[in-house]
Amino acid sequence: DNPASVKRQLAQLFDLSLRATVPDEPDVVPLVDACAVKGGVKFGDYQCNNAMGIWSKVKGKQTGFKGPPAIGQAIVNNLPPSEMIDSCSIAGPGFVNIVLSKKWIAQRIQGMLIDGINAWSPRLPVKRAMVDFSSPNIAKEMHVGHLRSTIIGDTLARMFEFSRVECVIRRNHVGDWGTQFGMLITYLFEKFPNPDDVSGAAIGDLQALYKASKVRFDSDPEFKLRAQQAVVQLQSGEIKYRKAWKRICDLSRAEFDKVYQRLGVQLEEMGESFYNPYIPGVLEKLDNLGLIEESDGARVIYVEGVNIPLIAVKRDGGYNYFSTDLASLWYRLNEEKVEWIVYVTDIGQQQHFDMLFKAYRRAGWLPKDENAYPKCTHVGFGLVLGEDGKRFRSRSSEVVRLVDLLDEAKRRCKTAILERDTAKDWSEEEIEKTSEAIGYGAVKYADLKINRFTNYTFNFDQMLNDKGNTAVYLQYAHARICSIIRKSGRDIEEVKRNGKIVLDHEDERALGLHLLQFPEVFEEACTNLLPNLLCEYLYNLAEIFTKKFYSNCQVVGSPEETSRLLLCEATVTVMRHCFYLLGIEPVYRL
Ligand code: ARG
Repeated sequence: DNPASVKRQLAQLFDLSLRATVPDEPDVVPLVDACAVKGGVKFGDYQCNNAMGIWSKVKGKQTGFKGPPAIGQAIVNNLPPSEMIDSCSIAGPGFVNIVLSKKWIAQRIQGMLIDGINAWSPRLPVKRAMVDFSSPNIAKEMHVGHLRSTIIGDTLARMFEFSRVECVIRRNHVGDWGTQFGMLITYLFEKFPNPDDVSGAAIGDLQALYKASKVRFDSDPEFKLRAQQAVVQLQSGEIKYRKAWKRICDLSRAEFDKVYQRLGVQLEEMGESFYNPYIPGVLEKLDNLGLIEESDGARVIYVEGVNIPLIAVKRDGGYNYFSTDLASLWYRLNEEKVEWIVYVTDIGQQQHFDMLFKAYRRAGWLPKDENAYPKCTHVGFGLVLGEDGKRFRSRSSEVVRLVDLLDEAKRRCKTAILERDTAKDWSEEEIEKTSEAIGYGAVKYADLKINRFTNYTFNFDQMLNDKGNTAVYLQYAHARICSIIRKSGRDIEEVKRNGKIVLDHEDERALGLHLLQFPEVFEEACTNLLPNLLCEYLYNLAEIFTKKFYSNCQVVGSPEETSRLLLCEATVTVMRHCFYLLGIEPVYRL
């Protein structure tokens, strides 16, 4: 349900025409799309592409149509009168080109300015949705892949919220229950025989601890044995072990929080350990349904189309990543009553989720139809690469501390800002805030603008460039428009109430049309869970504003000042909303 979408409104109109044009073909659905620019020209704003398809259906029948162009003409003739459309024409083999009424475009934008951007929101048929994202592993490295998951996941959650989902749960499924804890705790106890000495300060750097204990684990069989026993102790709730486990988790959490705080991302943690008590019950239910089989001593589930089985219980009776996800999904569907769950991880985990969802379908716990609710979707993404084309690593060590990465982005922005004349009279606070908004925003945008399936190359120089498709460029564009409005000296709220938008210049009209297309672009981004479509839209908006509208239409001091100021205000409103969806803090002056 997306009433503000121009494409949908046109489709409704053309549907009425099609019913009248080919009453005997009830299966024909309207095919309406925005027109692409071909060789620098556009023949309309939208087009209806049904004529050719209808012709191939009715060719042999007695309909009186002589060919697709005649069908196109009939479609036009049968259109009910509408304020939306200015004119239609037939092109080539029967395309119907549609030119929208500029008066109608202007009214729609004006309406949005008065009612706010929420007037343009769609409605997803879901009350409760969950985005499972970020989800780093305790005591292990929080790597750039987790950064990608955090950035993409946060945007998807914001997109659901804008789609009027009442409750959007941002779930941090941290890996706090692996066998790594046996190893870590055993190592800690060796260093600190008195458990009360195990403090954050004593543990120091968790990643170093992880590495050191891993070395012991791999080289010393006796240590390994003790580590394995420690896992059992921990899982059976032995107090001393639980305490050490909690200390380690708290320490990791504090480190993760530094990243979330910088990114302005909020997550609700419910780690793997939470679901541990639910595993036996869920496995029993699956067993009763006849899904669990014995294989090589392990308990497994076979799913359609995959030649390896899902291992629900390991040979040694222990649980694994799969056991936890079987239980957590059960909890989410039955206890939390979530209707759509989106899991954001690298593409490497695609098979894991495919098998998980298929097992649930086999059990009848998810509908056979993948698009029906309750629904589960894996949102996979590609690798983050360094400039050498290999997996991203920092120069000094093999791990990249995400906090350092974000701080570096901010530092570089601050340097650039301090070099500018305009920042001379800025307060220390404004400089800090602006550097953060631009720096963190640039990291997010560089990630989000790439189609998530592709790998992306992390490059500070590229993402912080103020030209080209970067957040920095967009922030400049936004700040410049804000300054135009400020310089007019007009009270923009008053202009909104009393002014009127007129789109007589072709560049005014082009800007207006692009603004109006936000709802349909958003819908596509949401349906396919592709934030890059929003970035593309936003970049085009800034380009149309700067290169067309602002280059050719004087705003302040022109006879059209009022209308043009409203167009500026509409542009920043939509820009800021895109920024919001992408998790980017807008900057009002630069
Ligand atoms: N902790 C996992 C990792 O770092 C991601 C968890 C994703 N969520 C889930 N429910 N499996 O790869």
